[in-house]
Amino acid sequence: MLWQNVRFDCARPVNLAMRRILLTSALPYANGPLHLGHISEAVLTDIYARALRQQGHSVRYVCAHDAHGTPIMLKAQDAGVSPEELVAEVGREHRRDYADFRIGFDNFHSTHSAENEQALGRIFQALDAAGLIDSREIEQAWDPVKGMFLPDRFIRGTCPRCGAADQYGDACEVCGATYEPLDLIDARSALSGAAPEQKPSTHYFFQLGKLEGFLRDWLASAELQPAVRAKLGEWFEAGLKDWDISRDAPYFGFEIPGAPGKFFYVWVDAPVGYIASWMDLCQREGVDPWQAWQADDDTEIVHIIGKDITYFHALFWPAMLHGAGLKPPSAVLAHGFVTVNGEKMSKSRGTFITARKYLDALPAEYLRYYFAAKLGAGVDDIDLNLEDFRQRVNSDLVGKYVNIAARCAGFVKKLGGGRLADTLDAPELVAEFAAAGEAIGAAYAARESGAAVRQIMALADRANAYVAERAPWALAKDPQRTAEVLPVCTTALNLFRLLSLYLAPALPDTTAKVGEWLHGLPDWSQREAPLLGVEIAPYQNLLARVDEAAVAALS
Ligand code: MSP
Ligand code: ZN
Repeated sequence: MLWQNVRFDCARPVNLAMRRILLTSALPYANGPLHLGHISEAVLTDIYARALRQQGHSVRYVCAHDAHGTPIMLKAQDAGVSPEELVAEVGREHRRDYADFRIGFDNFHSTHSAENEQALGRIFQALDAAGLIDSREIEQAWDPVKGMFLPDRFIRGTCPRCGAADQYGDACEVCGATYEPLDLIDARSALSGAAPEQKPSTHYFFQLGKLEGFLRDWLASAELQPAVRAKLGEWFEAGLKDWDISRDAPYFGFEIPGAPGKFFYVWVDAPVGYIASWMDLCQREGVDPWQAWQADDDTEIVHIIGKDITYFHALFWPAMLHGAGLKPPSAVLAHGFVTVNGEKMSKSRGTFITARKYLDALPAEYLRYYFAAKLGAGVDDIDLNLEDFRQRVNSDLVGKYVNIAARCAGFVKKLGGGRLADTLDAPELVAEFAAAGEAIGAAYAARESGAAVRQIMALADRANAYVAERAPWALAKDPQRTAEVLPVCTTALNLFRLLSLYLAPALPDTTAKVGEWLHGLPDWSQREAPLLGVEIAPYQNLLARVDEAAVAALS
């Protein structure tokens, strides 16, 4: 059922078991290219979306790029373009990369948009009216040469605790100390090299502590992983502090209504970008975007994020929504970080792989498969070991999955004139494969794509064992038994068709080709009906082996 056919205000959709999910992945900063970390998050979210849709749920997946903030402003200055131009250019590249990885967004928008400013305005006004916004003067680090206030990350100096040189203004990477930027010894502006001065400025604060009661309830009722729940517990222990939501001009962002020269900090309007992207989609479809954020609406709002941005999504964001009278997220689900050959992606070590660099070397689906095989519902990091990647794709996809079709299709042409048999040789095996969809679907729905892939590959092993045991090539040579060949191959191709259905969330392109070849992939709810007695086109190779040289080109 298409979402646009589901009226938001109707009592219930026809299928009671059908979930309506508004799904997001985090908004990538528009100041640099997408890398394989971003892609892993998008692939995780996209597989989840496709798997749930396949099972009959209504899922809309929206995203955007995160356009605001000091780094983007400064990068545009350096490049001699306006921030709008920079964001538009980077945004085009992001969209192309995501599309080439077959990320099936229902909408991809920008936080630098009229929708975002409007949604943010509504939320801010409501928070202000609820008495949750405060303003006061604070001392800030000021760059006298650049003539601007400096974010902590743009101040460097010697750690006051351990004496390590060249540390950031908020924390020491050597000893882990956290401090105020002006505590640094010999603090210097990373922009001008000048010693920063202290200067007072009025800032606006969101009084998070006033919503602690709500946050504790939300923590208890929302879908969160144990690791995230534990982190939130720690933050409650430490005490919820007011959150500074303003920045002084010059800043690339939205000006705070009624406060000239003051801008919303990028992390305030960033999550509102989820709503903005949704609004943009709803405008096209003529529905009320805010309905999904009403308490009585049963749309599940699910945010998929990297573990580094949990604080913003599991504390500030639900608090902002609730404070503004809107429904908080149903789930905030964090994932771990991608490492390459066991190391953090790093430009200097040559392990920083951009999305485009990968796409120039290899087909997107190989990496989608590898991530699918490694991803689970937890927050563990996932390692892209390039040799393991090559072997895994070759042995699973080429050696096991595609092999089933490759070994059997020729006989359909040769002995059946291109027509499948009217009966199966092993109907119970096909029925077993159809029944296995239950557990595979459940694994996907629990975001355990690794578990789903393991089950699928175990089935692929069984299909290959069946083919090896029935050996159609031997039967074909035995005049007494040639009649068995077609039912055997028809059985194998039905197994292959079911495996393709199960792999479709991870391999949308390859399995779409299988669908074109085998009269469509089965309907999820009717997958026990085998494909019999129909004409099929000659088999064309679906996937090639991963080339060693192509993998070498990645690092
Ligand atoms: N703009 C913010 C998010 C705002 S959401 C309202 C941001 N952008 S980001 O570009 O730095 O990161 C976007 C997403 O990519 C985050 O969820 C982040 O955790 C994820 N990843 C960035 N590097 C990653 C890896 N190496 N591995 C996996 N995901 C990582 O944060
Ligand atoms: Zn230190």
